[in-house]
Amino acid sequence: MRIVDLIRKKRDGHELTVEEIKFIVGGYTRSEFPDYQMSAWLMAVILRGMSGAEIATLTEAMLHSGVTLDWSQLPGKKVDKHSTGGVGDKTSLILAPIVAAGGLFVPMISGRGLGHTGGTLDKLESIPGFNVNLPPERMREVLSQCGMVLVGQTEQIVPADKKMYALRDVTGTVESPALICASIMSKKIAEGIDALVLDVKTGSGAFMKKEEDAVHLAALMVETGKRMGKRVAALITDMNQPLGLYIGNALEVTECIEVLRGGGPADLRDLSLDLSAWMFYLGEKTKSVEDGRRLAEKMIASGAAFEKFCELVSLQGGDAEALRSPKRLPQAKNQVGVRSHHAGHVQAIDCEKIGIASLVLGGGREKKEDAIDPAVGIVLHKKLGHRVGKDEPICTFHYNSDARLKEAESLIHASYRIGQEPAPAADKLIRKVIES
Ligand code: URA
Repeated sequence: MRIVDLIRKKRDGHELTVEEIKFIVGGYTRSEFPDYQMSAWLMAVILRGMSGAEIATLTEAMLHSGVTLDWSQLPGKKVDKHSTGGVGDKTSLILAPIVAAGGLFVPMISGRGLGHTGGTLDKLESIPGFNVNLPPERMREVLSQCGMVLVGQTEQIVPADKKMYALRDVTGTVESPALICASIMSKKIAEGIDALVLDVKTGSGAFMKKEEDAVHLAALMVETGKRMGKRVAALITDMNQPLGLYIGNALEVTECIEVLRGGGPADLRDLSLDLSAWMFYLGEKTKSVEDGRRLAEKMIASGAAFEKFCELVSLQGGDAEALRSPKRLPQAKNQVGVRSHHAGHVQAIDCEKIGIASLVLGGGREKKEDAIDPAVGIVLHKKLGHRVGKDEPICTFHYNSDARLKEAESLIHASYRIGQEPAPAADKLIRKVIES
């Protein structure tokens, strides 16, 4: 087999066989062909799509590119949550400690920033010393000791996703239901979990802008999980504006700490509690989602979730004191407000542009080898439905270099539609639930 023939086959819209897909995934993981050929193949998939059978094979090939984890000797259910990606989407850092404090195991494998969206690993690495690259033996120790572990794909665990994810990030090849399903489900099945909650984002800041596309992606992932014997539910949630107020790695950690300490913005707190509730329910800790929500609220009110997060950070080499005094997290040298050109009400937000503005400030990557700046980002002052005065700040940039400040500012102005009519606040956060 030759990779160039398989690129052409997908380019021309034909279905690939099991052997061909295994050849592509295995060959790329072992570096038998270069990034430019894999990029061409990924782009062909974006343009031509994949059949259900191709998606199932791709998911399994990625899953078996490394080892799968087995926690059967740990007493209790193992559950996880994964999001398809959004702006300011930081719920993992809140719900994992809630659910671990509530008595379930959370062995979470996450990703880095992807396209205009942020990534859990980059957020965690903004905590000084935090190590997301643990070998399976150390994962086991951390998980059994504190009920949760937060890591990335490694050379041993879903290495195919590690390589393909980094390549997709910078080649415009994220927005494919097939690639997203295989990327997420290969990681989640490799984790050795019993149940999974999917947060499938829809709206201007999501990869699936239209709700019907999000529902299609959710159904694909729920079906894949069910075939693999997992209990899965997908929540279709709104991403027409950033979640919470903070965007950027260390800033988002700060906002998560606020929620874990009983404060924080209502939308972020509510979605984190609802996702935790579903995890408790699917993990059979509670008899209903409503009971799960009550348990989640209790874990915050008692301080147990915050203490769990501190414990986890210490176990993974991080500075837990930085959670108690967030000023110890990386801080940008400069701050500047971005002022509105008009008075009125916020009618709409092109949320993807806000994600790109944060990336342009240094919070994301444009090339695989780019280093990100953990301190930079955006603090929003105005969200959907809010009144804005002329020259009033819409948001504040936290930045270290002014090289691309103007570009980031233009993106913010282009993303906010401010009109005279009073505008409704955001749609409800959870639009639909799809269960297996
Ligand atoms: N999250 C992932 O892990 N993979 C994707 O492709 C998109 C979101």
